[in-house]
Amino acid sequence: MAKEPSKQGNGHADGRAVTGSGGELHQRATDTVLTTNQGVPISDDQNSLKIGPRGPTLLEDFHFLEKLTHFDHERIPERIVHARGTAAHGSFAPYDIARTYSRAAFLQYPKVRTPVFVRFSTVAGGAGSIDLPRDVRGFATKFYTSEGVFDLVGNNIPVFFIQDALKFPDLIHAVKMEPDRGFPQAASAHDTFWDFVSLMPESMHMLMWAMSDRALPRSYRMMEGFGVNTYRVIDAHGTAHFVKWHWRPATGLASVLWDEACKINGADHDFHRRDLFTAISRGEYPEYELSIQAVPEAEADRLPFDILDATKLIPEELVPLVPIGKMVLDRWPDNFFAETEQVAFHPGHIVPGIEFSDDPLLQGRIFSYTDTQLKRLGGPNFHELEINRPKCPMHNFQRDGMARFAVDRGRVSYEPSSLDPAGRDAARETPTGFVTHPRVAAGDKVRQRSATFADHYSQARMFWRSMTPPEQRHIVAAFAFELSKVETLAVRTRMLGHLAIIERELHDRVATAMGMPGMAAFSIATTMPLSARLAAMERSMQRVRITAVWPSARMMRMAVSLKTWARLSGLMNPGKRAAISASSAAMAIASKASRDFSSLAVMV
Ligand code: HEM
Repeated sequence: MAKEPSKQGNGHADGRAVTGSGGELHQRATDTVLTTNQGVPISDDQNSLKIGPRGPTLLEDFHFLEKLTHFDHERIPERIVHARGTAAHGSFAPYDIARTYSRAAFLQYPKVRTPVFVRFSTVAGGAGSIDLPRDVRGFATKFYTSEGVFDLVGNNIPVFFIQDALKFPDLIHAVKMEPDRGFPQAASAHDTFWDFVSLMPESMHMLMWAMSDRALPRSYRMMEGFGVNTYRVIDAHGTAHFVKWHWRPATGLASVLWDEACKINGADHDFHRRDLFTAISRGEYPEYELSIQAVPEAEADRLPFDILDATKLIPEELVPLVPIGKMVLDRWPDNFFAETEQVAFHPGHIVPGIEFSDDPLLQGRIFSYTDTQLKRLGGPNFHELEINRPKCPMHNFQRDGMARFAVDRGRVSYEPSSLDPAGRDAARETPTGFVTHPRVAAGDKVRQRSATFADHYSQARMFWRSMTPPEQRHIVAAFAFELSKVETLAVRTRMLGHLAIIERELHDRVATAMGMPGMAAFSIATTMPLSARLAAMERSMQRVRITAVWPSARMMRMAVSLKTWARLSGLMNPGKRAAISASSAAMAIASKASRDFSSLAVMV
């Protein structure tokens, strides 16, 4: 029985609150009435229905049952990777030059701003893990274009650990917490991760980046993004270019030191999330410029590596960046769950003017995202959620399924059809719709890696050589820290073997820091780079330095790039390249490494 008004100090100051017989507070509606999910007004949200004030509780309390049932199901499965993230709304506007590369509607007119939603994330940790582990960061952007949703699902590192999507489950199993003990969380510094990568020479380039300052960004506002995989863009005349996508923040890049990261993680788990929220609340809207590296399809074979290999980047000296637009993030989501958690990115969401390449990592990604989201979001209708819905008209005859929101009317849910009066609700094909750019695809059915993917060390080496002395110190410290956490000696020595092939100095410094000089083991089959490739690579890695002074650096790079590109274009014709690729797979070329390590056993 309620008493009015409260005289016990727990009532509402305006006098509309009352206390119940147990002293509990009841706030009364002034306009918005609390209801059940069926809209039934609720008179008491403090007490369940009981026999007498001291129970037992009655099963017929439908309000109680509905509220508790909904609560019990509030959590959905977290993402299998990139579970921890934060997001913001904004918009994107292209520069004039963008339309010369792609006919995508959102790249045509600088005055047309396309709404975007961007989610930043870590990869390995669970949804409740820390913001500043040593890890790759996700940088996923949903463009709500007038011709459908385009998702650019990228990372803050331009290359990846593996070359074939078949290895992704193994990579993630290895880096996530170990299955028997449930730790470490959000950390690569443990046996299973280093065991796996030490048996995967193709991971070496990515490992160099992962052990660098890039893996400890100061803020999501101070971080680059990369599409990693090679895509295609198609212009209005049907000309195709291979492209790599790059986001670059207006603030420039900044990272924290490992010691700083450890302290920050202890003091504030939500460091990056808080930083983005606070910046947007203050009106300091993060800005990122979108650039592409565009390679005419016919020119791709002249590159000294395979453009379909996701463990390689295209050096800017060979192919300069072309800025094609700018993105501003200016609005925080209204609801973390509805938007940040339920957003479903997918590298397979492309629009006319953008297409895939045959990169075997990308091809596998096209399957994986929808498959996982069917489970994570509970069925096939998550495209109807506000955050995932296209902001352009959407009509088709897909029907029903778990949690269908739309009420699809009429008799006809198929096409072609003649039962509907022509023109009414009858969605039909259009010749201006998505058309796959024609290209030749022929060959034997094989389970085989291309020999052009075989060079795992040159770009890793160039990354190391492009680093400043402080950055090299950080990389050495990171390898020494991570490998020192590995209990299995053979894993450590195997990794030291890889480091030695990457660069003698890197190996020496890490081995010394770990107290393991002379213990490197060389047991992995590998091919070493051709000298022509090496020569090209050596000039190529200036851009990876962390720097906040892009304009001048970029101008300098562009000045040398044309000369370099012209020289390299003549370097290899496709026939010669194929011959070189075949021989590189067959031969164990231990050029520099064999000079440095006369006992090196290189096997193919
Ligand atoms: C074969 C390789 C890969 C597979 C199979 C794969 C698979 C997945 C899966 C299953 C998810 C969870 C999606 C969800 O629950 O919504 C995911 C998320 C993500 N992946 Fe990948 N991934 C691969 C490689 C990559 C690469 C190379 C990148 C970077 C270019 C990347 C970037 C991301 C990002 C940023 C997210 C989080 C998206 C978000 O914020 O919701 N992934 N990936």
